Amino acid sequence: MTTYDLIVIGGGPGGYVAAIRAAQLGLKVACVEGRDALGGTCLNVGCIPSKALLTSSAKYAEIAHLSSHGIAVEGASIDVSAMMGRKDKIVGDLTKGIAFLFKKNGVELIEGWASIPAAGQVKVGDDIHEAKNILIATGSEPTSLPGIEIDEQDILSSTGAIALDSVPEHLVVIGAGVIGLELGQVWARLGAKVTVVEYLDRVLPGIDGETAKLAQRALSKRGLKFQLGRALKSVDKTEAGLSLTVDRVGKDKEEVIEADKVLIAVGRRPVTRGLGLEELGVAINARGFVEVDETFRTSVPGIYAIGDCVPGPMLAHKAEEDGVACVELLAGEAGHVDYNTVPGVVYTDPEVASVGQTEEALKEAGIEYSVGKFAFMANSRARSIGETDGAVKVLADANGKILGGHICGAHGGDLIAELVLAMTKGATVAEVAATCHAHPAMGEAVKEACLDTMGRAIHA
Ligand code: NAI
Repeated sequence: MTTYDLIVIGGGPGGYVAAIRAAQLGLKVACVEGRDALGGTCLNVGCIPSKALLTSSAKYAEIAHLSSHGIAVEGASIDVSAMMGRKDKIVGDLTKGIAFLFKKNGVELIEGWASIPAAGQVKVGDDIHEAKNILIATGSEPTSLPGIEIDEQDILSSTGAIALDSVPEHLVVIGAGVIGLELGQVWARLGAKVTVVEYLDRVLPGIDGETAKLAQRALSKRGLKFQLGRALKSVDKTEAGLSLTVDRVGKDKEEVIEADKVLIAVGRRPVTRGLGLEELGVAINARGFVEVDETFRTSVPGIYAIGDCVPGPMLAHKAEEDGVACVELLAGEAGHVDYNTVPGVVYTDPEVASVGQTEEALKEAGIEYSVGKFAFMANSRARSIGETDGAVKVLADANGKILGGHICGAHGGDLIAELVLAMTKGATVAEVAATCHAHPAMGEAVKEACLDTMGRAIHA
């Protein structure tokens, strides 16, 4: 019987990337996956299908703005099933691509749900596989609220909200986080009335407050209705559809909202059940995350964990970085992740992208900083493509080292890469500003925001 150097449990972006990298490093590797397809949440029901639908819906929404370009379009219509078919094909092709990469790199795929009966053993079905090391990469799943059961028909998680067969009349989104805003905008663009109900008095918690405000303003302009400071209490099914009761936070007042669909987007929780971790003595924190040290070791020797099931941002690219660093350390190399330079992108229109510290966090920590801002309204490329909403904001320390970058604007998800690289390399705002940026380009706004931290912006 084979003894593997490493068995990875979970074939999402964390697990499959770790498995391939471990194989590249010469380890004998297997990856266990219980779903029919590799790729985890991200490829099957998360990042990729949502971005496919965001693109389709953006193309439809754009038609309404073509008249200012002197283009008239008549009779545009939506075929939701064709849109879903395109999305499913993209997902299918990408997940098959991972299976191909496994073959190419000699990673063995074990199909089924795994548990860990003892350190060094992984059980799948009736089979026990031996492994010197086990890597838990089991990801996360949507949470709901007490008393509210997701049926994926009318009461949806993100999984149901990317698989509707028609455009709802009124979609209520609970939670103005990343999922709520992205999927809310998909259906708003396709013609649904979309109301976003959020507990806090702001959208996108965790994102720089000023940047989140810009996003809220732009999304409101594009049709999303926000009801902040409200908590969902209950959802009742009625003949007409759904009746939602929401509490005004801190006001002892209730409101009723009628809807035909509700998307519950109030966060995700780690998936660890069924693995047998408690019996093994693997330490799990109060919020259900697997505790690990900086080298991804759990409290049980030979068992490691990465990605959404450990504390930290729940992001596919962070899980990948975790996975690579973890197996490089296992193979005796110097794996490392700098969590301060992990970017986050919300793929709404406009996009919201950030890296490093927010202004609120710097204030709270008592760190001195300078701020530079540049609005896309003053950027000539933004003007010519008709994408003037939003701004770039850069935060720098007394020596000009970049502490954080926050962008609300078209292509923000691509523009942030410059600030991520600058932070990774320890570049200063002066060095970014001294770098030649093509003209006319959205990226000039990044340069101008860096100049502005020194009071030297040219076009502001
Ligand atoms: P989230 O944590 O981003 O936002 C949840 C929101 O729900 C918060 O604003 C919270 O205040 C609100 N909320 C909680 N209880 C509520 C209640 N009873 N009534 C009203 N509002 C309530 O969670 P989300 O959007 O579900 O995303 C989960 C994870 O998935 C995040 O960690 C996110 O980073 C990740 N993700 C990342 C994406 C990306 O990088 N583009 C896309 C989608 C998800």
